[in-house]
Amino acid sequence: MSAGSAPGLPLVPRSILVVGGGAREHALAWRLHADPGVERILEAPGNAGHGDVAQVFPDVDADENAALVALARQEGVDLVVVGPEAPLVSGLADRMRAAGIPTFGPCAAAAALEGSKALCRRIATRAGVPMAAGAVFDALAPALAYAASLDGPVAVKADGLAAGKGVTICGTLEDAETALRDVLERRVFGDAGRRVIVERVLEGREASVIAICDTTTALALPAARDHKRILAGDRGPNTGGMGAYSPVPDLDDAAVAQVVADFHVPTLAALAARGRPFRGALYAGLMLTDEGPRLLEYNVRFGDPEAQAILPRVAVPLAPLLLAAATDRLAEAAAALGIDGVLVPARPEATVAVVLAAEGYPGTPATGDAIEGIDAARAAGALVFEAGTACRDGRRVTAGGRVLTVVGRGRDVPDAAARAHAAADLVRFRGRQVRGDIGLPVAERAP
Ligand code: AMP
Ligand code: GLY
Repeated sequence: MSAGSAPGLPLVPRSILVVGGGAREHALAWRLHADPGVERILEAPGNAGHGDVAQVFPDVDADENAALVALARQEGVDLVVVGPEAPLVSGLADRMRAAGIPTFGPCAAAAALEGSKALCRRIATRAGVPMAAGAVFDALAPALAYAASLDGPVAVKADGLAAGKGVTICGTLEDAETALRDVLERRVFGDAGRRVIVERVLEGREASVIAICDTTTALALPAARDHKRILAGDRGPNTGGMGAYSPVPDLDDAAVAQVVADFHVPTLAALAARGRPFRGALYAGLMLTDEGPRLLEYNVRFGDPEAQAILPRVAVPLAPLLLAAATDRLAEAAAALGIDGVLVPARPEATVAVVLAAEGYPGTPATGDAIEGIDAARAAGALVFEAGTACRDGRRVTAGGRVLTVVGRGRDVPDAAARAHAAADLVRFRGRQVRGDIGLPVAERAP
C-alpha cells in the first residue's frame, strides 16, 4: 500500500480504482482526482469521455468481479470505490477485501439492504427507523387482503433489484391487484418478484441523505433532491433519475444531523449486530411527511444523479474520508480533518444537476446520435459528466439512456438552476429529453 500521509492528517490513497462508467462515476473520479495527494484515478469500465480525470479500462466490466480484483492487484491501487449496486450485491467488496484491497462499498451481506426490500424492512424495523406501515408477502391472497386493510393508496414493491422500476403506486384496490399479479404471477421483474412488499403510501416531498459510513460512524453529505419521473411536473414513467439539486431548503443542517441519528446510525448498528458490517455510502431515500422524515428505501451506494449534485459541494478532501471508511477509521479521520459533528462540510454554493436522456428512455434508448456542445457547456462554467456516450471517429455520440449530466453552480438553487438549464441548452443531440423544471420552485414548474 502506497497511501501517503502528512503528520496528523489521515492517510490519502495515491491511486484509486473507481468501478462503473456512468455520470456518477465521472463525478466521483473528477472529485477524487482533485484531492491533494491523489496521483492516479483508474476507472473500469469507465467511459471514453472520462479521460480528462481517469485512466479507463474499457475491457474490464463492472460485473466482472474476478477481473476487477486482478486489475486492482496488478495496478497496486490503494483504494477501490464501487459506484453501482450490482457488483456490491454480487460480492465485489468481499473479494477485494479478501485480496487485502481497501474498498469503499459494503460486503454482499450488507449490500442486501438494497438488494432485498424485505431485508431492508426487517433491518429498519429492528433499528427503530421510522417508515410507512407495510408487510412482505409471497402469495397474492394475503397481500391483497393486507392492501385492503390499509384502506387507502398503497405502494407495491418487488423485493429484489429492478433498476428503479419495481415500485407501483396504486390508488385503488384494482390497481393494487394488477400490480401484485404483475410482480408475483406474471413475474415482470423476474426473480426480483418472488416476494412483494405492500406499503401505505406516504404524502410529502422526497429527499436523499447519503452518508459516508464505516461500521459504527456516519458522516452525512449535503442532502439532495432527485426527480425520478421522465417529464416536467413529475409526470410520466419512473427513470433512474432525471436531475437533482442540493441543498434541499426543507431539510436544513440540523434536520440532516437528526436523520443521521435516527436512520443511519441505528441501521449501521443493526446491520453489524447481524453479521452485515457496512462500509460505504448509505443512501436513505426519505419522504418528508408532516410527522417527520420516513424511510422509503436504502441504497448502498451514491445516488445517480445525486452524486453529480452533491460531490461538487464537498468542501473537504474526499479521498481520505473514503479510505478511512473502508478501513474502519472514519471517526479518527473526521477528527483529523477538523470535522465537528456528523456533517461533511459543504461549500455554500448550490448545485443543480440536469440529466440529458436519449430518445426512447426509460424504454429502449436510441443510440449513435451525434452530440454537440459539450465543450460550450463547460466553457459556460458548467460541469458535464458523461454516462451514455461513446466516441466514434473522434466525435461524441449517444450510447445509452441517460446520456450525460450537466451541473450548474450558483449562489442558491434558483441561480444554479438558471445556469444548469442555460448550459444544458447548449448540448444538443437528436431526440434529446430533458426536464426543464429541475431546481425550479414547484409553482414555476411546467404544467
Ligand atoms: P423505492 O425504490 O422504494 O424508493 O421506491 C421508488 C419510488 O416510489 C420512491 O422514490 C417514491 O417516489 C415511491 N414510493 C415508494 N414507497 C412509497 C411510499 N410508501 N409512499 C409514497 N411513495 C413511495
Ligand atoms: N437517483 C436514485 C438512485 O440513484 O437510486
